Amino acid sequence: MLLMPDGQGQPTATHRSDYQPPAWWIDTVELTFDLDPAKTRVLNKMRLRRNPEVAAQALRLEGEELNLSRVLVNGAGTSFKMDGSQLVLENLPEGPEPFDLEIFTTCAPDKNTQLMGLYVSQGTFFTQCEAEGFRRITYFLDRPDVMASYTVTLRADKTAYPVLLSNGNLVEQGDLEGGRHFAKWHDPHKKPCYLFALVAGKLVARQQRILSRSGTEHLLEVYVRPGDLGKTEHAMNSLMASVAWDEARFGLPLDLERFMIVATSDFNMGAMENKGLNIFNTKYVLASEATATDTDFANIEAVVGHEYFHNWTGNRITCRDWFQLSLKEGLTVFRDQEFSMDMAGSPSARAVKRIEDVRVLRSAQFPEDAGPMAHAVRPDSYIEINNFYTVTIYEKGAEVVRMMHNLVGRDGFAQGMKLYFARHDGQAVTCDDFAQAIADANPGSALALQLEQFKRWYSQAGTPRVQASGQYDPEAQRYTLTLRQSCPATPGQPHKAPFVIPVELGLLNHAGQALALQLEGEQTANGNSRTLVLDGAEQQWTFINVVQAPVPSLLRGFSAPVVLEVDYSDAELLTLLAHDQDAFNRWEAGQRLLLRRALQAITAPDDSQDAAILDEALLQALRQVLLDPQLDAAFKELVLTLPSETYIAEQLEVVNPQRIHAVREAMRLQLALALHIDWQSAYETHQASGAYRPDAASAGRRALAGLALTMLCLGAQHSGDSIWPGKTLQRFKDAGNMTDRFNALAALVGCGHALAAPALERFHTLFKDDPLVLDKWFALQAGASDRAGHVLPLVKQLMAHPDFTIKNPNRARSLIFSYCNANPGAFHRADAAGYVFWSERVLELDAINPQVAARLARALDRWKKLAEPWRSSAREAIARVAARADLSNDVREVVTRALAEE
Ligand code: BES
Ligand code: ZN
Repeated sequence: MLLMPDGQGQPTATHRSDYQPPAWWIDTVELTFDLDPAKTRVLNKMRLRRNPEVAAQALRLEGEELNLSRVLVNGAGTSFKMDGSQLVLENLPEGPEPFDLEIFTTCAPDKNTQLMGLYVSQGTFFTQCEAEGFRRITYFLDRPDVMASYTVTLRADKTAYPVLLSNGNLVEQGDLEGGRHFAKWHDPHKKPCYLFALVAGKLVARQQRILSRSGTEHLLEVYVRPGDLGKTEHAMNSLMASVAWDEARFGLPLDLERFMIVATSDFNMGAMENKGLNIFNTKYVLASEATATDTDFANIEAVVGHEYFHNWTGNRITCRDWFQLSLKEGLTVFRDQEFSMDMAGSPSARAVKRIEDVRVLRSAQFPEDAGPMAHAVRPDSYIEINNFYTVTIYEKGAEVVRMMHNLVGRDGFAQGMKLYFARHDGQAVTCDDFAQAIADANPGSALALQLEQFKRWYSQAGTPRVQASGQYDPEAQRYTLTLRQSCPATPGQPHKAPFVIPVELGLLNHAGQALALQLEGEQTANGNSRTLVLDGAEQQWTFINVVQAPVPSLLRGFSAPVVLEVDYSDAELLTLLAHDQDAFNRWEAGQRLLLRRALQAITAPDDSQDAAILDEALLQALRQVLLDPQLDAAFKELVLTLPSETYIAEQLEVVNPQRIHAVREAMRLQLALALHIDWQSAYETHQASGAYRPDAASAGRRALAGLALTMLCLGAQHSGDSIWPGKTLQRFKDAGNMTDRFNALAALVGCGHALAAPALERFHTLFKDDPLVLDKWFALQAGASDRAGHVLPLVKQLMAHPDFTIKNPNRARSLIFSYCNANPGAFHRADAAGYVFWSERVLELDAINPQVAARLARALDRWKKLAEPWRSSAREAIARVAARADLSNDVREVVTRALAEE
């Protein structure tokens, strides 16, 4: 399927159906590292044996960018050969007895710009092994179904690297000659090599001793660079809360004496769950009220939780092969979502979290599912596994677990998890094993009864469409609901079979009151909300004793990851927005109305009506939400935020990004002007008093105040009034925390006010020594609402700023990704300059860090939807990248799929 330029080796696809169990087992691994940035020596002594269940064959160990100096079998030299990246040993001892294999290699951590394997970040050694980075450290069976016991000795200069860490427990340490020292670690748990980690450098730790429910003591540590210790309290609190939560909710205790988190500022991803030694991007560890926003605080809690929860879902039970990635990632995202909801507490705070998660799903996963990189939650093949750490594996995977959870109930799911661990603890398993355990623990459940069909969620890509239509018979007082499903074709999957789709619903009367639900055949009415299971192409349900024509509230809580199409009237949507008992669907009704208005304006013949896209009824409904004293501020902020440009684009067959941007901006302005007085009172009534706390309720108040300020500045900029911009600048200067300060700055930048420039300058001066805050400074400017094409020249100018470096992934993301991936109005320029910039940056990054480059390459995934001239210039830009002979497999896979004719 991949077409390569002449002379290039064909990157090979790996197929799920080709899975073979390993021919060899590695029982123990003793690693000795002599750490040196320029040349680190690695001695790898393994105890190996043949897998008696697999036909005898040569041992093929993977290695990448290693210098091999010696191979010994049971202490004696042996013959070997190289086959591409593999070290092949053909003359190994026959029979089932284990033997020792020793391999000496060296590598160059300070030349490692990919940040995979062993690398140096600001003078400290770190490793990143998932998915296939261990082979950059030593020759190995680098696959997750080979689980071994690790003993690791680290040797390094004591002054430069006083702290030496690896997985498990510290068993020995001491001084060596020449100013060096050593530390020896042993991990009591067997693990796949992707969970190996080491850290060596000048670090300090916040320590915390905790007692588990059973009374065992554990040491928790958060390691950072000296000077950052004051910013570790929230991460530590999040870790303690995670430990307590997993024990309380799932009965899963911490199985280690010592659990460490280490922060690094050079990291490709967010964080990594190495056994007992999690390595984190500083972005998800460091926080103080002066430097981190509420969102940062919430993200830290979620990511600390996520990596901690992997200790059971991922580490104790791991993946048989990388096609099963969602086994650990989808499940663990579900767990971190539930953790955040439980931490948030109130039902409405839970709904807010749910809305935020669904927004991510719809604005990132739905487009992926509709584009050239569409793949199933369990893909059938890949070229580069790093390209498959996607929103589909993660967020859709979590939705699949959530549907199972909802089909068997909260307690049934906990029972299923118990059975999963009883069956598979210590094993490397598949998504089938997980689904089977949940179903087997719940015989008779809808999941158990339709398990095979349910599992189509794992094998079929694409976002299903559910069409709903209702018919009310006033004579018979019957309401018949018809649901139909279909799923668009995706690359390699032209036809789809029906999914099992749980549809939670309620019925409202026109005054918005909940109606009791009684299905035909039932003796009595039973509750106001229930879940129907759609498993055919089309099905009907008839509700009886329905005294008036109802307004259906469908797919409550977003009970399945589908696109729901319903012919609601505006009046029905206004009823749902004002009254639905389900907070998610209340928000949803508002979004449907806003989207409807946006699409009407976008497809209008001209822009003459742009000043009045929102009608008075909708404005009044939004005003009522804004002023409702019963509603949470966080919820109001979500209702009053317009659907994103990306989400709007997904609803259109042909996309004119500039028209979408103009319409959305016009709607924002109208919202700002029409609700001016209400924004003013919202701002004034949501001022926090007292000390800063990052909890959901306080964060919600700050978020609403921030939106209000943005709206007040937008309105002021339009009317020429200078009071609110002045107040905003003052707020920016006086703010006691980063959330308020940044929101004020963003409000000034967002409306393009003259005060934005001095405020940005002041912000830079204040925070020039804090890399994470500087990232915000770059991101804000690159993500600003475009006015007459001003953003691209600014981004180019910022590329030359002394604080910019493309080598640091966080900094690259803050400037380049914020522009290319998160600012469609500025990126999709009619003159194609945005695309040219994109192609140059993809190539520039690919030479340094293919994993990060491939993520940037995805920015043009949806090019086929674009109208002219964007479509042609986007294709040209992608083709320009694809024409390069020296692309990484990572970027090659993305651009080849983007250009493929389906
Ligand atoms: N296992 C991943 C980290 C990872 C991903 C390493 C890809 C190597 C390649 C980790 O558990 C993870 O999923 N991290 C997320 C954050 C999480 C909260 C979803 C990340 O890094 O983005
Ligand atoms: Zn994960």
